[in-house]
Amino acid sequence: MKERLKKLEAEVLDALKGAKNIDSVETLKTKYLGRKGPVSALLKDLGKLPGDMRREAGQAINQVKVKLEEKLDAVLMELKAANRAESLKSDVIDVTLPGRKSSLGALHPVTSTLDDIESIFLKMGFEIAEGPEVESDYYNFESLNIPKDHPAREMQDTFYISDDVVLRTHTSPVQIRIMENSKPPLKIIAPGTVYRRDSDITHTPMFHQIEGFMVDENITFADLKGTLTHFLTHLFGAKTQVRFRPSFFPFTEPSAEVDIECVICKGSGSECRVCKGTGWLEILGCGMIHPAVFKGVNFDSEKYTGFAFGMGIERITMLRYGIGDLRMFFENDIRFLSQFK
Ligand code: DAH
Repeated sequence: MKERLKKLEAEVLDALKGAKNIDSVETLKTKYLGRKGPVSALLKDLGKLPGDMRREAGQAINQVKVKLEEKLDAVLMELKAANRAESLKSDVIDVTLPGRKSSLGALHPVTSTLDDIESIFLKMGFEIAEGPEVESDYYNFESLNIPKDHPAREMQDTFYISDDVVLRTHTSPVQIRIMENSKPPLKIIAPGTVYRRDSDITHTPMFHQIEGFMVDENITFADLKGTLTHFLTHLFGAKTQVRFRPSFFPFTEPSAEVDIECVICKGSGSECRVCKGTGWLEILGCGMIHPAVFKGVNFDSEKYTGFAFGMGIERITMLRYGIGDLRMFFENDIRFLSQFK
């Protein structure tokens, strides 16, 4: 028995010399001192010894067991301490290094133009409304006094979803939806996305418009001129020249287009490519709401009058920033967008 214990002890200590890491020491520990190991086996066999030898043998086995345990645990402790020291060394964080700065984003130029337009109208007491982008033929055309054979309905301009359903080609249908559900006085602007089958340097199939209208008793063309002149001189600068030109829209009578003095050549027109030498830039369409439109929403056109206007936001943004190609707005090139901080 003594011999066996000696041999076992020597064997374990020998194996321990070869164990270089925590895992292999743990393995040794289970192998020799675990429940299925040789030490446990010896203890189990104690019963087979004659009574007077059991006590002595038991003590001897336990002594070796405790000794080996202490030895193995000491080695484990050492290895763990070395591991910790190593990782402290390699995980060092230099707190004096400068941090990485996160770069600031910017609003899309179309968004900031829209924000500026909205804020001018909000200060004049207008409210913001929205309508659906998938629109019925009735709201997009019929209710706006655009009869079935009107050129605006031609397939080349309109995305049809079915015979009766279109992607709205302008924000004007929001006028009808609001008037159907409310009573004058009304002062509304309605920004949103519109769609047309068109694509070149000044047209994209999707773009943004903002619609506006005002309905009450005694609204006149002078209110229209005053409101839009105020708006344009606030958006483009107090000295901006504004002119109203007679025009035609099916849903307004009389109708006008509004020009501002060219922002590039300052109205001189000489060799200016942006205004094509005219000195003026077309900015929006407007007019007095047509009695036929009022009739469709059951407003009494003897009692109420109103004006409406609509404009493209990309076009205004191009003029404000001197951008030549509309498609830049939709390519999301970060080098282009980051200039608008
Ligand atoms: N809906 C017109 C368009 O898309 C713009 C417009 C013109 C809107 C005159 C109006 C208006 O409300 O009175 O070209």
